Amino acid sequence: MELLQDLEALADWRRINPGPVLVPTMGNLHAGHLALVRRGQETGRPVIVSIFVNPLQFGPAEDFSSYPRTLEQDLARLRPAGVAAVFAPSEQALYPLGRQGLTTVVPPAELSERLCGLARPGHFTGMATVVAKLFGLVQPGAAVFGEKDFQQLQIIRRMVLDLNLPVEIVAVPTLREPDGLALSSRNGYLDAGQRKLAPLLYQVLCGLAAAPASDAARERAWSRLESAGFQPEYLDLLDAATLQPAEGGGALRWFAAARLGRTRLIDNVPVNPR
Ligand code: PAF
Repeated sequence: MELLQDLEALADWRRINPGPVLVPTMGNLHAGHLALVRRGQETGRPVIVSIFVNPLQFGPAEDFSSYPRTLEQDLARLRPAGVAAVFAPSEQALYPLGRQGLTTVVPPAELSERLCGLARPGHFTGMATVVAKLFGLVQPGAAVFGEKDFQQLQIIRRMVLDLNLPVEIVAVPTLREPDGLALSSRNGYLDAGQRKLAPLLYQVLCGLAAAPASDAARERAWSRLESAGFQPEYLDLLDAATLQPAEGGGALRWFAAARLGRTRLIDNVPVNPR
């Protein structure tokens, strides 16, 4: 496995590994990331994992400076997984002219200015911009993203369509702990008591998805989270493709975000057609 930390090393690697599959990450890798790697390997292309904590997608009051940076541990996890290369650039390498005045990718408001976009203004512009840069640098034939960040996945799909980027987007279902909690690097912020409570978010979503949708059911679910100590941010039933309020016959998903102490948890589940 090669460790590539500058753009020249990446360009050299890419010349002998054209059209790889990219797994973009911010590091602090867990089993969910390894599932993305395995799915990438199924494409038969060499897998390159990028590790970069992207400052552009964090708000001023968010956890950019405290976000766990665990490169050595991440490399130790990726080596036995058969990954061909890791691209772990510095901020200087990725944003040589700085962050101010940068050309950015602004996703359409109908996808980005709802759900997480409401509490995290600018987040999806920062995310789409770095993913577009990674696509430009790595020139992957395919890229793998988890359904845990479902809004992110849909925004990337739309970016690829709108900008005619020749990258196949591969989605991987959310990996969960045995008690249902979606795997996330931010779960490490939970203390022991919060960790016990955290799976309630998934349980509430599953309860909503299993019953006919109604305002009363949503309000009950919201209160259940609040009584348990969560601060819910949103609990929405949306069309999975458009992220618009459910209308017509498209596949539906329940989406939730809630704070538990200082940790912001997000999750989503599909509503299976009866
Ligand atoms: O999902 C993530 O870890 C990040 O948003 C991504 C896609 C690596 C872009 O920084």
